[in-house]
Amino acid sequence: MKKFSIIVAFDSQYGIGKNGNLPWNLLSDLKHFKEITTSVSDPSKKNAVIMGRKTWESLPLKFRPLQGRVNLVLTKGGKSGIPSGVLCSQSLDDALSQLSSCNIENIFVIGGAQIYAQSINHPSCEKLYVTHVRGEYGCDAFFPPISSQFFPISSSPQHQEGEISFQFSDYLRY
Ligand SMILES: NC(=O)c1ccc[n+]([C@@H]2O[C@H](COP(=O)([O-])OP(=O)(O)OC[C@H]3O[C@@H](n4cnc5c(N)ncnc54)[C@H](OP(=O)(O)O)[C@@H]3O)[C@@H](O)[C@H]2O)c1
Repeated sequence: MKKFSIIVAFDSQYGIGKNGNLPWNLLSDLKHFKEITTSVSDPSKKNAVIMGRKTWESLPLKFRPLQGRVNLVLTKGGKSGIPSGVLCSQSLDDALSQLSSCNIENIFVIGGAQIYAQSINHPSCEKLYVTHVRGEYGCDAFFPPISSQFFPISSSPQHQEGEISFQFSDYLRY
């Protein structure tokens, strides 16, 4: 089965969301997210993004599906409301096997909380791209505990956007 990465931004309490949306407005992180999830080394291929139905619905209409990437939504509720061209699966394993027959370079799990919880201990999860947002944002959705099998391989300097301080770190699994 093809390996995948997780990409997430969380605060100092592992908070990722509030009232169905992102708790912060961080343009530099959205840019980082777009670059990581879109970049390919083979231009004949695309990357895929796997997300839960609630995260799909949280994306502004004008930004979904996320352009330049194969979008796959996990839902048990059928395809209604999901446009053609967007893939749907009823489980993470179904999603990964569906994508293995597409011309995909990298697969990213992009949230939300339910999907991260089901993905982080999956044997095919090999890398985490984390944006550490400094501070606490009163979140109601959280990233699960990270196993000690993941070790940091790189960290950016601390960045600042307005009042928000954040840092990009990548983790690989042993
Ligand atoms: N900070 C970040 O990096 C980040 C990234 C993404 C999202 N978020 C935030 O996370 C929050 C949303 O997270 P969430 O946990 O509420 O929702 P979610 O994980 O995005 O979506 C949950 C939905 O996914 C479907 N689902 C879950 N497990 C499934 C499975 N095994 N097979 C098929 N479908 C499955 C179900 O859809 P059905 O009910 O249709 O069956 C479920 O209701 C929002 O606040 C969002 O802004 C933050």
